[in-house]
Amino acid sequence: MNKTIKTIPRVAPAAYRYVQEVLDFGFHNAHSVGMTARLERDFAARFGQKYGIAHCNGTATLQTALLAAGVGVGDEVIVPTFTVFSTPAAVLQCNAVPVIVDVDPDTWTISVDAIRKHLTPRTRAIIPVSICGLPPDLDPIMELAQANKLVVIEDNAQCVLGWYKGRVAGSIGHFASFSFQASKTITCGDGGILTCSDDTLALAARKAATLGFKDLTVKPGATVVPESLRCRPDYQRHASLGWNQRLPEVACAVALAELERVDELTEMRRYCAMAFDQVVREFDWVVPQRTPEGYVNAYWNYAVQFRHDDVPWSKLLDTFVSLGGDGFYGSYQPAHLEPVFANLNRAVDANPARYPHFAGRLPRYCKGICPNWEAIQPRIAMLKTNYFATDAADQQAEILAQTLKRFA
Ligand SMILES: Cc1ncc(COP(=O)(O)O)c(C=O)c1O
Repeated sequence: MNKTIKTIPRVAPAAYRYVQEVLDFGFHNAHSVGMTARLERDFAARFGQKYGIAHCNGTATLQTALLAAGVGVGDEVIVPTFTVFSTPAAVLQCNAVPVIVDVDPDTWTISVDAIRKHLTPRTRAIIPVSICGLPPDLDPIMELAQANKLVVIEDNAQCVLGWYKGRVAGSIGHFASFSFQASKTITCGDGGILTCSDDTLALAARKAATLGFKDLTVKPGATVVPESLRCRPDYQRHASLGWNQRLPEVACAVALAELERVDELTEMRRYCAMAFDQVVREFDWVVPQRTPEGYVNAYWNYAVQFRHDDVPWSKLLDTFVSLGGDGFYGSYQPAHLEPVFANLNRAVDANPARYPHFAGRLPRYCKGICPNWEAIQPRIAMLKTNYFATDAADQQAEILAQTLKRFA
């Protein structure tokens, strides 16, 4: 039976028009055609929060959220070990302590028990990560946050239109952070957006993202102080410290166009994931990330664990590629085992006076602190779901089937 092939363009057709509008208007210090405003307003509305604040990437969004939440010297922030370095890096960049905890052995998202065990009087925030597109178990995380007065920042760089018990991922935490980097579902090459519904936190975030200009507002697109204020010689601009993380209007124009076709983009990711899923279900030694009842995985990628004791990971990759496969990724190192952390432990031990906020407070980042993920991580394969035609995904799935059959 012939299947209908669906193809979508790699870049949203509207992006060309929107970028043209920006270029035709030209760049002005305090005026624009309003692409940032449209992106901030429409993204926030679609992802269930009141405000959106466009950023230059999805690491900057985390830095801003932490700064806006008042996280600073010596505070502790709980993050999962299965994540991209951006998550713990943003914590360190605020001079706070990343407390890196284990994941659930089946969903691979942050373990609520592990969070509970690592709460201390210094804990200020939690960054649950929707890894590979799957939201973590957010209800108990929000309960812990409420009981302990913590701020929750959903790291949804990998999760566009994932759902958790009837709510869209990004609408649950105090903040949600998204990335528009090139591999992401909505992309403008590089970029990101922070969403938030709390008036005070959102305003603090706008300022934290924009050099702490004191008269900024959180109105969509309000990234500059009015000229009538700025032109005066006696005008004091900065009452707090901030990063400088705006997203250029041209990039906002592209991200807006992609946002407008986000259903089509996520459907395509889902199609690709389901094509792999059908294959994988035939092999009991290939175990996909578990999506619990009531969750929708946005499938930024399709992640599986190879549980074949006799077949090395690299042999599977080599075979897949030799048969025409497009390759797949292993998982990032467990975050706590990235050498930057052991190096930091060593630096603090060697010179505690230089790091008074870390001396005696930094965890030992070493093997054994996240046993679930340390055991699973070496066997993970993350299959790509960013194909723009269904037949390309079907072809990759067929090659995966041929690959797995060789080792059955
Ligand atoms: C889970 C996670 N957090 C944060 C980021 C950072 O996003 P960006 O690359 O836009 O800084 C990424 C991007 O790879 C990510 O996957």
